[in-house]
Amino acid sequence: MPRVGARVVLAYSGGLDTSAMAQQAQQLQLASLGRLTASIAHEIRNPLGAISHAGQLLAESPNLDDHDSRLTRIITGQSQRMNAIIENVLQLGRRTQTSPELIGLQAFLTDFLREFLQQQRLPAEVVAVRIEPENMQIRFDLTHLRQILTNLCDNALRHSRASSGNPRVELLGGLGLDRNRPYLDVCDHGEGIDADTVAHIFEPFYTTSAAGSGLGLYISRELAEANQAHLHYAPMPGGGSCFRLSFQDPRRQMQ
Ligand SMILES: Nc1ncnc2c1ncn2[C@@H]1O[C@H](COP(=O)(O)OP(=O)(O)OP(=O)(O)O)[C@@H](O)[C@H]1O
Ligand SMILES: [Mg+2]
Repeated sequence: MPRVGARVVLAYSGGLDTSAMAQQAQQLQLASLGRLTASIAHEIRNPLGAISHAGQLLAESPNLDDHDSRLTRIITGQSQRMNAIIENVLQLGRRTQTSPELIGLQAFLTDFLREFLQQQRLPAEVVAVRIEPENMQIRFDLTHLRQILTNLCDNALRHSRASSGNPRVELLGGLGLDRNRPYLDVCDHGEGIDADTVAHIFEPFYTTSAAGSGLGLYISRELAEANQAHLHYAPMPGGGSCFRLSFQDPRRQMQ
């Protein structure tokens, strides 16, 4: 009988080795892809800056008629959009390095929101935070968590503003059913997402917004996976969207 047990253990540890190797190979592939995309994005940034600057100077010209003004607005708007794509691609390149640390979620959110709301020029009232238990900890890369929450809060505020005129987001933290895995929900009472659209929202470059890059949710999910966490969508009862970030048990060290 012990031999059977030993065989089972061997088979199991063999499986672990293969997945560790596959993970390592994927990391290497991502690292070189990250370097390539980051250098392309970097090269595009300078000429794009020049186009955008020229467009702004043109827009200030006193002799523009309505038609030409509209064209300069297109140059400026689309340059901004391309710049957002470049910034996102550069972020994606940085994702290959993950430095997880133990974080007190409540204290982290207080710092994060102060900075985020200041940048967005929004008052503190637009965000409601409830974390239970208050001393909840997670293990995550700080820079990655900031990027994910910036993307999710930005979406929530934009969509709630579009549907009600009032930007509003709720951040609700708790422990999963097994009491080991913490989660953070980023919720809004915007228009929600219909079933056809939901199937695509995590795909790169999928967007329903004229100004968006469609990389926000894709990058957020990639960053979550790099930290052994998951990002999922769930509709809000009564309308609206909820994105749940389910973290790894913080007592587990990452491999
Ligand atoms: N809170 C939300 N409410 C309703 N729809 C959403 C919400 N968040 C995301 N979506 C949908 O998912 C799509 C993809 O979101 P994602 O954040 O990846 O890109 P984006 O917001 O369109 O562009 P970017 O993030 O570059 O500004 C959005 O275009 C929108 O259709
Ligand atoms: Mg977005």
